[in-house]
Amino acid sequence: MSSSSISVIQLSFSAQTKSLRYVGIFFFLLGLPSASLLSGTLDIAGRIDVLANRLALWYEYAPLIASLIREGFSPPTIEETTGISGVEQNRLIVGAQVRDSLVQSNADPDLLAAFETGGAELLYEIRLLSASQRVAAARFLVENRCDGKAAQELARAMKDFPSRRGDKGWESFDYTLPGDCLSFMYYRQGKEHRNPSEQRTSALEQALRVAETEAARNVILEELEGKGEEGDTVGEGEAAARVSVVRLRIGEVAEASSVVLLPVSAAEEREILEAPFESRSQGEFGVVVAEKGWGKWVVLPSWDPVVGLGKGGVVVSFPDARVLPWKVNRWYKEEPILVVANRSNREVGADHGFYLVNSDAEGLKVQRGFALKEKGFTQSLGTVLLVVRPPKEENDELSDEDWE
Ligand SMILES: *[C@@H]1O[C@H](CO)[C@@H](O)[C@H](O)[C@H]1NC(C)=O
Repeated sequence: MSSSSISVIQLSFSAQTKSLRYVGIFFFLLGLPSASLLSGTLDIAGRIDVLANRLALWYEYAPLIASLIREGFSPPTIEETTGISGVEQNRLIVGAQVRDSLVQSNADPDLLAAFETGGAELLYEIRLLSASQRVAAARFLVENRCDGKAAQELARAMKDFPSRRGDKGWESFDYTLPGDCLSFMYYRQGKEHRNPSEQRTSALEQALRVAETEAARNVILEELEGKGEEGDTVGEGEAAARVSVVRLRIGEVAEASSVVLLPVSAAEEREILEAPFESRSQGEFGVVVAEKGWGKWVVLPSWDPVVGLGKGGVVVSFPDARVLPWKVNRWYKEEPILVVANRSNREVGADHGFYLVNSDAEGLKVQRGFALKEKGFTQSLGTVLLVVRPPKEENDELSDEDWE
């Protein structure tokens, strides 16, 4: 050992402390158990030794990784010499910084104690939240014994919540409470499914389980009991609409357990008619074979309305949402949309159904069944199944500060 101010004490410890699996020895810095002291007193070999043998608590040795990087070590070199993978190095450094911010925010000692022997992967996930949100989120994670994936979901729900202002039910959820933010996300997801459907009920029940306020629970219960206005996703006062508006999340396609590949057409009748009608996946690799060559395709998660959209599916891209027949909110003029339609079903049927039509006066539009019937239309270019909004830019990248 290079530092005389450190004594080594052999300790045994319980097997269930996950992140300390490999630790055989704790370091006790006499009198001053501070992380900065560790890097201040140890030379490079000493730091590598502490890291390789995990000779401190995780948040004490995490800054040593950052200090080695500052000395010019690359993450792969550190991995080679210490056995801590690059991903883990990142989690430890950022997790320790988030833990520091909990200390700065005067988080309760019992909350900090819960992260004493591990939890960097949880704290890492809440790095993009504000200081006060981090304290609330950390407590929620501990109390609900969340894993990294749940932590990521929570952070996403909390970050996303303010931008949903104006969505139905939003004001009944309390943005300062992590459970309510998460609940609102499930509530929203539930409403994207067909009513009634198993997925819808199970998402709403999940929302109910995590909701923290009475107001939120009431809104969810109303929805569960069917009192919630159907079709609210398409705008105010649109009773019984049969189409959902969904915002794609960044990374959602990659995370989806199943996806659909659909041809994309410009908002033009000729192209919509020409786009390949069918594509199949074939052989052991599921190679997708389209009936003809086509230039533009999109992959979407297999959301409820598009599941089984085999023959006739097409995605029409519009520069903004003014082609939709319902009330125009602010975003309608700001964002491009994709309209997913079923060309196998072109008959104008339900009054409240939505259809793609090309009317000479207005060009290509989405119109309601009853409006078309009034005008004597019986055929459309296709039944509209879903409207997709683009993923919103969220600065999910690690900034330099996250690396110190
Ligand atoms: C598309 O329309 C056809 C014909 O009506 C129907 O059989 C099929 O289920 C529809 N697909 C979807 C995903 O709605």
